[in-house]
Amino acid sequence: MAVSYHRPTKIIVDLQAIQQNLANEIKHNQGKDVFVAVKANGYGHGAVPVAKAALAAGAMGLCVATLDEAIELREQGIEAPILLLGLLPLSAVAVAEEYRVAVAVASLAWLKQAQPEIRHALKIHLAIDTGMGRIGFQKSEDVQQAVNYLLSEEVFDFEGIFTHFSTADQADTTYWEKQHQRFNDILTGLSHLPKYVHTSNSATTLWHEGVGNMVRYGIALYGLNPSGNDLDVSYPLQPALSLESELIQVKKVAKGEGIGYGKTYVTPKEEWIGTVPIGYADGYVRKMQGFHVLVEGQYCEIVGRVCMDQLMIRLPHAIEEGTKVTLIGKNQGAQITLQEIADYLDTIHYEVICLFSERIPREYL
Ligand SMILES: Cc1ncc(COP(=O)(O)O)c(C=O)c1O
Repeated sequence: MAVSYHRPTKIIVDLQAIQQNLANEIKHNQGKDVFVAVKANGYGHGAVPVAKAALAAGAMGLCVATLDEAIELREQGIEAPILLLGLLPLSAVAVAEEYRVAVAVASLAWLKQAQPEIRHALKIHLAIDTGMGRIGFQKSEDVQQAVNYLLSEEVFDFEGIFTHFSTADQADTTYWEKQHQRFNDILTGLSHLPKYVHTSNSATTLWHEGVGNMVRYGIALYGLNPSGNDLDVSYPLQPALSLESELIQVKKVAKGEGIGYGKTYVTPKEEWIGTVPIGYADGYVRKMQGFHVLVEGQYCEIVGRVCMDQLMIRLPHAIEEGTKVTLIGKNQGAQITLQEIADYLDTIHYEVICLFSERIPREYL
């Protein structure tokens, strides 16, 4: 996809905010190695710049969801440890080895089939499904068999064992405790523990005493509260992402005129309407109709349907074309947060940031 540099719409990422969030986490977690999650293009912030900033600020490694995300990092000269959190197809084992990517594994059968594909060494993290129901071993006996096999085959470097919690961001800790207990039971029964034992995503490190010596730090790195509005964070999180554009046209529209496809908005009186060059092809979805943006510190409603590449807003008065429009972030003392957008869309901020397409250039502070 062509990145649209010749258009005033841009995402601005404050890398210092990312480094500050990481510094707070490193202080908070008392000696655990922090691997930062830069999957999904660094949660939409840009995987490579975020990874470089985080590594410079003390991150010990990176987590990705697909092998191609790891390859992108390696091809940009990043040498730090990378852990692939998703399961790798057997056909890509040699590629993972070539790019020195540690992989999550969920079955002995996979290990046995992968073994002949490995030339020298592949780092393995055993995934344990303690109640997320997604990937991983479920039974202690199966984990022990996999460990035995890993230790018996020279091509494997048994580097980690981990689980993932499904409710770490909730006030009710009952299910978290059940998962934690299951994981501990499996660990206790094992003959050998690897270098890394890890359970903590952002929510776990913020609100629980999870077992282990490594953290997989994702959403909080970007300054967002994993629980949305539900739980208070134990150290300040600084949001890193802003989304800005400009008014590309401003016009006076007579009373009774339709705005946008389907004529879903009709001006109730003479109004000033501004057009902003961002639309659903950028990931600013049609459901944002009726929400607002900021112009000169004032909230301006999005009127009419969001188009593929543009949207229209109602201005309080005539405002000069070229004036800054803030869709996420601060503008003259007022602010729009990702959480407010998530609430408006009835979803989570994780999803909102992942929606922003490659078409929007990312600028780094
Ligand atoms: C296995 C695993 N670990 C860690 C993370 C990071 O989670 P968060 O962004 O909530 O910190 C994720 C993200 O979904 C994940 O799937």
